[in-house]
Amino acid sequence: MKLIGPFTQVLTLHQLPLKGSLKDDQLEIIPDGGVLVRGGEIQSVGNWKALRRQYPEAKMEEVDGPSVAMPGLIDAHTHICFAGSRAMDYAARNDGKSYLDIQQAGGGIWSTVQHTREASLDELTRLTTQRIQRLNEHGITTVEVKSGYGLNVEEELKMLRCINTVKEANTANIDLISTCLAAHIKPKDFEGTHATYLQYLVEELVPHVQAEKLTTRFDIFVEEGAFDPMISKVYLEQIKLLGFDLTIHGDQFSTGGSRLAVEVGARSVDHLEASGAQEIEFLSKSDVVPVALPGASLGLGCAFAPARKLLDAGCSLAIASDWNPGSAPHGELLTQAALLGAHQKLSSAEVIAALTFRAAHALGLGDRGSLSAGKLADVVSFPCTDYREVLYHQGSLKVSQVWKRGGLLSPTSKS
Ligand code: NIG
Ligand code: FE
Repeated sequence: MKLIGPFTQVLTLHQLPLKGSLKDDQLEIIPDGGVLVRGGEIQSVGNWKALRRQYPEAKMEEVDGPSVAMPGLIDAHTHICFAGSRAMDYAARNDGKSYLDIQQAGGGIWSTVQHTREASLDELTRLTTQRIQRLNEHGITTVEVKSGYGLNVEEELKMLRCINTVKEANTANIDLISTCLAAHIKPKDFEGTHATYLQYLVEELVPHVQAEKLTTRFDIFVEEGAFDPMISKVYLEQIKLLGFDLTIHGDQFSTGGSRLAVEVGARSVDHLEASGAQEIEFLSKSDVVPVALPGASLGLGCAFAPARKLLDAGCSLAIASDWNPGSAPHGELLTQAALLGAHQKLSSAEVIAALTFRAAHALGLGDRGSLSAGKLADVVSFPCTDYREVLYHQGSLKVSQVWKRGGLLSPTSKS
C-alpha cells in the first residue's frame, strides 16, 4: 500500500454523469489531497494528512512542489500503427486539393497502406512503440490503436499482431486497446465490389481474429469513397452477432454514419464534423458516445465537431486525437482538446471528462477514468496550483508525473 501526494488539488471526476453538459462547480476538488493505492487500484482519495493518520503503514511517495492531480488521460481513437509519411498530402490539401480528391487519385489512405505493407512486423513494432512513448510523456495511460492500413487478411493480421506485441511489451506503462479497421477503404488491389470486400473480411479475416483473440472491437469508415451506410450495416450486423463491439468513423464529410451507429448499437461514433441538427437529435436519444477528433479538423483545416450542441442535446462526449499520418498528424491530445474547448465553448469539466471517464466509457471500460475507490490508479499531475491552468496553457504546460496502476513512470521511461 502506498500514499501518493500531497497534491495542491486532486480533481477526482468522481460521480459525474456520463451524458450531458457539465459545469465546473460540479467537479470534486480535494485541496491538499492524496491518493492511496493498493495492488494497482485506488483504495481511497482524500486529505493528505488525514490519509497519513489513517494509514500509517502506507509507504509514502511524496511529490515536490505545487501540483494538480487528475485521472490518467485516455486517447480513445488513434491510428498510430503505420509506416511512412503523408507530408505531400498535407501540402497538396493546403494547395487546394480535398482529402477525398487525393484519395480518389490513389494517394491518401492507400499510400499509407503501401508503406505499411512494405514494413516488417519488427519495423512496425518499433515505430508504434516510439509513438506510444510520446503518448506516455503526455500523460496518456490508455490508448486505442486501430489496424486499417493492411486491408487484406495477412496484412491486417500483421497490424493487429503488432498492436498486441506493443501492448504486451508496455503493460507497465500504458494499456493498449486494439480495434480492427480492415473496413477502412476497399483496397485498390481487391477485385470485387465494396460489399464483396466486406464479405471477404467476415469470412476470411474474422475467424483468425477470433482464433488469436486479436481484438474485441471492429470499426468501419462510413463515407463517400469508403463504405456507404447500407452495405456497412450488413457488415456491422454480422460482426455484432459474433460478439464484437462496434465503433464507426461517421459524419466526417457527409452524414449517414451517426444514424447507422444508433441503428446498430455502436459504442461510439467518431468524427461528426458534418453532423447537423437531425444527427444530433438522433444521437441524443441513444447511448452511442460521440467522439470529437479535433486533430483531424486541425489537420484538414475544417470545422470542429459540434461538441457544444451535442452536450446541450444531452449526449455524452469524448475527445480523442485520431493520430494518423493523413488527416491528423499532430498527435497531441491535450492541445487539441483545449483548442476544441475554446472554439466550442466547453467548460473545463466537459473537456476533462471527455479525456477521462467519458473516454473510458467510449471504449467500454468501467474500471478507469476517475480517481475513486476501486478504479485503476492511473494518475497524471501537472505543475500548477489550479486545475484550470491545464487547459489555459493549451497543452504547453507539460505533465510533471504519470502513475500507471500506481507505479510512477521513471523519467527514462518517459523519455
Ligand atoms: O479518422 N477518415 C478515415 N480515417 C482516418 C484517416 C486515415 C488516414 O487518412 O490515413 C481518420 O481521419
Ligand atoms: Fe480515425
